[in-house]
Amino acid sequence: MPSIGVCYYPEHWAEETWPRDARRMVDTGITHVRIGEFAWSRIEPRPGVFDWDWLDRAIDVLASAGLKIVLGTPSATPPRWMLDRFPDMLAVDAAGAPRKFGSRRHYCHAHDGYRDAAADMCRVLGERYGRDARIAAWQIDNEYGCHDTVLSYSDAARHAFRDWLARKYQSPEALNRAWGNVFWSMEYADWTDVDLPNLTVTQPNPAHELDYRRFVSDMVAQWNARQVAALRPLTDAPLLHNYMGRVLEFDHFDVGADLDIASWDSYPIGFLSDRLEAAPAHKARFMRQGDPDFQAFHHDLYRAVGKGRWWVMEQQPGPVNWAPSNPAPAPGMVRLWAIEAVAHGAEVVSYFRWRQAPFAQEQLHAGLMYPDDTPAPGLTEAKRAADDLAALPAQLTPSARVALIFDYQSDWAWKTLPQGAGFDYFDLAFSAYRALRRAGMSIDILPLETARDYGGYDLIVAPGLMTLNAAEMQALTASGATLLMGPRSNLQTPDFQIPNPPGPAIPGLDLQIMQVESYPQGYAPHVRDDRHIGIWQEHGRGTAEVALRRRDGIPILYRAGKIHYLAAWPDDALWGDIVQDLTGAPSLLPPGLRIRDTESHRFVINYDLDPVDWDGHTVPGCDALILPRS
Ligand code: GAL
Repeated sequence: MPSIGVCYYPEHWAEETWPRDARRMVDTGITHVRIGEFAWSRIEPRPGVFDWDWLDRAIDVLASAGLKIVLGTPSATPPRWMLDRFPDMLAVDAAGAPRKFGSRRHYCHAHDGYRDAAADMCRVLGERYGRDARIAAWQIDNEYGCHDTVLSYSDAARHAFRDWLARKYQSPEALNRAWGNVFWSMEYADWTDVDLPNLTVTQPNPAHELDYRRFVSDMVAQWNARQVAALRPLTDAPLLHNYMGRVLEFDHFDVGADLDIASWDSYPIGFLSDRLEAAPAHKARFMRQGDPDFQAFHHDLYRAVGKGRWWVMEQQPGPVNWAPSNPAPAPGMVRLWAIEAVAHGAEVVSYFRWRQAPFAQEQLHAGLMYPDDTPAPGLTEAKRAADDLAALPAQLTPSARVALIFDYQSDWAWKTLPQGAGFDYFDLAFSAYRALRRAGMSIDILPLETARDYGGYDLIVAPGLMTLNAAEMQALTASGATLLMGPRSNLQTPDFQIPNPPGPAIPGLDLQIMQVESYPQGYAPHVRDDRHIGIWQEHGRGTAEVALRRRDGIPILYRAGKIHYLAAWPDDALWGDIVQDLTGAPSLLPPGLRIRDTESHRFVINYDLDPVDWDGHTVPGCDALILPRS
C-alpha cells in the first residue's frame, strides 16, 4: 500500500523530544522516517572515532513506535576534518575557484581519496545496521548534482579525465580525429596536453566539452557504484538514491542501474519559481499550486529510473526558503501532491521535514511542525493524505499508451552547442510532455536503449535526440507505434560531427536536414490561426511527404506512414494541434486539469484554485477525483 513518510533529524533535537515526535508521526499516519543523511559529524566526530550511541537510540525510539527507518549515508556532508585529510577534495568551479566548506556537497566526484572515505563510511554503517530488520531502505548520498555540483574543474577531475580519454580513444591521434582538432591547431601529442574545457578564450571545441560532460556523468555513476559495492554485501534492504528536480548533468539511468529504487524531491512551488520558463500569467495562476505538469514529468521519469520502483523522498510541506519567491501552498495542495504521486505509482511519499529548524540555513523552510513544536498547516494535510491513501487499493499500477523518450546525453549535447539562445532540451521535451497531457494522455518516460522493446504503445514521442545508433533507430521504428521525432534529431554523430549523408536517417523517411536556423525570442513565424513556431527551424531535402507548412510555405512536419519528423519548435497551441492529430484526442483539457490512469483507476487532478467541470463531473479546486476504470 502506498505510504506516507517524513524526513527527521534526531541530531537536531533534544533526545527527550524523540519519543513524542515518533508517537505524533504514527498518529499522523506516517509509516516511514528517513534519518542520517547529513549526520557524518555526529557519527564520526573525529577521524576513526565513531559515536553510535545516539544513532542506536534514535533508531530504537523511532522503530519501537512502529516506524520503518530509511537510513541515509552521509557523504553529501563530509565533516570539516575530512578537508584536513584531503585538502584537494573540493570541487572547483568553471572560473577556477574552489567550492569551499561551509554548506554541503563540497566534494569532487573524481577525488579518489574522498571516494574511498565515503565507501568506508558505507561499509561501517552496513556492518552496524545492514542486517537490522528495522532498516527498510538505504539512501546513498543525497541529490547528486544539486547546487551545480557535477561539473568540477579540479586537479582530480583533470587527471581522471585524461585517463578516461585514454581509455576511450587509445591514442591522441584518434582523439584528434574524432574531435576535429586540426581546426584552430588544437592537436594534442600526449594525454598530458589535454586540459579541462574551462577558461578557454572563446568557445572550446564542442566535442571536447561533450566528452567532458560524459566524463563527469561517469564520475557520478562510479561514485555511486562504489558506495553500492561497499553496502550491498552487508544488507538485503533496498538501496536508493534521492534525486533533485531538473538536475540533468549526469545520466540518472546510469546511476539507477545499480540501485533498487529511485526517489526524488518534489518542491512544486519552489520549482515553478526557480526552474521553469513560463509566461507571468501562468506563474501567477499556479503560484500556490506549482506547475500542473512539472511534478508529473519527474514522477514518470523516476518511475523509469527506478525500473518501476520509485518514491518521493521530500515533499514540500509549506513555504520553502530557496527560490526567488516562496509562497505558501494553497489549502489542499500538500495533500494533493501526495495523491498525484501515488497516481503515478509512488510507493512512499515522504514530507520534508518533520519540524522546522530554528537555526542554520533552512530556518525559514516550513516543516509539518512549527519550531515551537505546535502543528503547522502541512500536518493536517499529511494526515488527510495518509487517510486517503489507506482507502486506496494496495496495488496501483500506472498504465500508459504514450511514451516519451528522455535522453541525458542529448541535453548535454544541446547545452554544449545550442546554436541559438533558448534551445534547451529539457524545455523541448517538457513542451511535448505538456501537450500530451493537455490531450489527456498518461505517459511513460523511457530512456533511449538499444535492446529495449518499445512495443505496446500507440504513440512514441522522441524530440531532440542528438544521436541514435542503428539498433536504437530500429527499436523505435519497429515498435509499431506512431512515432514523432525531431526537431534536432539524429543530426550529429556520436563524435559530435555532422553525419554524411546528413540526418535524421530515419528508415522509410526520405529526408535530410541541410540547414538549421535559430530565431531571436519574439520572432514567431505564423503557421495558421493563432499557431506559430519559435526559435528553431530546419530546412530539409528529400521526397518525404510534407504534412504541415508555415504560412510562408516552409515545411515544418514531414511524414511517411506512421513516422513523423518535426522540423521546427512549435508553440503550445501548435503542439496541441499536432498531438491531437497524432492521438485522436477530441479536445484539450482545461489548463489546470490533468488525467493519470492506473490499470484500475483514473485520477483526475485539478491544479486550479476553482472547481472545474469535466466529463459530467465537478472536480473541486486543489483536489482530485479518483474514478474506477471499467
Ligand atoms: C532538498 C534537500 C534537503 C533540503 C531541502 C529544502 O534539496 O535534499 O536537504 O535542503 O531541499 O527544500
